[in-house]
Amino acid sequence: MYRIVSKKPSDCSSSELEQFVKLVMAGGEVASGLPARVQKAVSLVMLFKDEELVGTAGLKRPETDYHNKVFREARTDKPPAEFPFELGWVYIAPDHRGGKRATPLIEAAMDSSEGVLAFATARENNEAMHHFLKNAGFVLSGVPYASRQNAGPKIVLFVQDAPDGKVAGQAV
Ligand SMILES: CC(C)(COP(=O)(O)OP(=O)(O)OC[C@H]1O[C@@H](n2cnc3c(N)ncnc32)[C@H](O)[C@@H]1OP(=O)(O)O)[C@@H](O)C(=O)NCCC(=O)NCCS
Repeated sequence: MYRIVSKKPSDCSSSELEQFVKLVMAGGEVASGLPARVQKAVSLVMLFKDEELVGTAGLKRPETDYHNKVFREARTDKPPAEFPFELGWVYIAPDHRGGKRATPLIEAAMDSSEGVLAFATARENNEAMHHFLKNAGFVLSGVPYASRQNAGPKIVLFVQDAPDGKVAGQAV
């Protein structure tokens, strides 16, 4: 049986944190500094098949340099400060894909935002991810840009639309 668990990192056991990091790395995330980034996330979302962790998502608190760089490279007119959180680490192990579990995983991560807006990045050709992000209320912003860290297709920036006029948790 599959189940989704969403927790603050401080509420996770060390074994859960280790498994989370391991699976995110299996998904191709850069290992350097990952445990620290996981520890300071807003929430970690875990998809379990029985007792095995088979999927992840997270609402991250991006490092300022990286945050600014993404918005600069995408040449968006949106200010990064308007989008303090980042949706990321969306990964389901290959044997467990195709079960329509990505949307609830992403929704669980976004539920922890308490109205604070988020951004996300995806490869330009990752159409499935674009589909999920648009369904979750994100819109494309700026232009595709080449990743300096990883070769491959360009990166695109998505930002959350703020239909209710909320900016960084404040009503405007
Ligand atoms: C992205 C990922 C989490 C999706 O998980 P999954 O189990 O394959 O997908 P699900 O079964 O939950 O969802 C299938 C959905 O994707 C849609 N989809 C699949 N391929 C698509 C495509 N090429 N274009 C548009 N939509 C697509 C389906 O229509 C379906 O949509 P629906 O749920 O709205 O009906 C998984 O493939 C994965 O881990 N990929 C590698 C990591 C990755 O790319 N992460 C994102 C980094 S930004």
